[in-house]
Amino acid sequence: MSRLRVIVVGMGFMGLLHARAVRGLRSAELVGVVDLNETAATTAGESLGVPAFTDLAQAIRESRAQAAIIATPDPSHRRPTEVALDAGLAVLVEKPLATTVEDAQAMTELARRQGARLMTGHLFRFDARYAQAAETIRSGRLGKPFLFTARHWSTRSLGARVGEVTSPLWHFSIHHIDAIQWISGASIESIDGAQALASAGGSSAFLAIGALSSGAGFQISTGWTLPDTGGRSTEFEAHCERGVVRITFAPGGGLALWDETRGHEVEATAWPLIHGRIEGLLRREIEHFVEAVLDGTDFVITPEDAIAAISSAVALENASIRRTAP
Ligand SMILES: NC(=O)c1ccc[n+]([C@@H]2O[C@H](COP(=O)([O-])OP(=O)(O)OC[C@H]3O[C@@H](n4cnc5c(N)ncnc54)[C@H](O)[C@@H]3O)[C@@H](O)[C@H]2O)c1
Repeated sequence: MSRLRVIVVGMGFMGLLHARAVRGLRSAELVGVVDLNETAATTAGESLGVPAFTDLAQAIRESRAQAAIIATPDPSHRRPTEVALDAGLAVLVEKPLATTVEDAQAMTELARRQGARLMTGHLFRFDARYAQAAETIRSGRLGKPFLFTARHWSTRSLGARVGEVTSPLWHFSIHHIDAIQWISGASIESIDGAQALASAGGSSAFLAIGALSSGAGFQISTGWTLPDTGGRSTEFEAHCERGVVRITFAPGGGLALWDETRGHEVEATAWPLIHGRIEGLLRREIEHFVEAVLDGTDFVITPEDAIAAISSAVALENASIRRTAP
């Protein structure tokens, strides 16, 4: 079996998970890791047993990579993606593809000119619950959807880690925007209200309501408001003429541990460790990317889908009222 030679760029929280997941695939070979920060690159390279680089172009030349996974912070996706596409690599970019429509379109146009493959990692596309919700709703069995709701609450400590470079809108709502647009086959068309709310205590939330091009309403609430002791929750609902689809995430995917000082929710859905291998949605996403590149088949997420999600996120951000609460 031919194996796709993959490098992973950005050795932070997500990039390390991607690199470990790639190492667990039979269809791919991890051939290097890259980070602008030399210590982050070297530490990751040593722990994964692969060459480490601080320069992506050099990494591509020396590792003879055929594909790159870009896991740099949200506003820093374009540059490394362009370097990889310029070299003709297939590229999987963490969500969002970019934080402006202009950047996303430029990346997509470059991929087209280079004849290179480009996919964005909207993880819910690889969740059996979302895929079945999409199929059920699109089959028309429940009649036309008239309301979509999504909520996603995480911890303030996540906000403390990522809040300088991103926001609940770009970190969480973008997942739900893509899911709603994918499942409904419609796009966000009008916004009745949106609010970016921050508190002095480190909580942050993004709330929005509006309508889709199909006429259905939508409501999205996301944020980091919880203490580390627990309570993370995600829920998606589609209310249709003749029924309702509801997806509920048990906190941490249903796995919790308590020690003598506090409780911990352990991630058991997105990237659980099973018998030493990263499994779950992340593995499915990367496996899909790798197999579609090797087989020359279509990705389930097109660059146009990624641009549509960004375009809606930008519209929501521009429409939002910013408030600071005590
Ligand atoms: N799909 C999901 O559920 C999910 C979850 C978490 C994060 N993410 C996404 O993953 C991406 C990374 O997030 P994170 O939390 O891992 O960030 P992070 O801050 O933990 O790590 C980012 C790393 O990238 C490095 N870096 C920055 N610019 C670089 C560049 N130009 N070239 C090489 N390295 C560079 C930094 O030094 C850092 O080590 C973000 O886009 C985020 O939205 C997705």
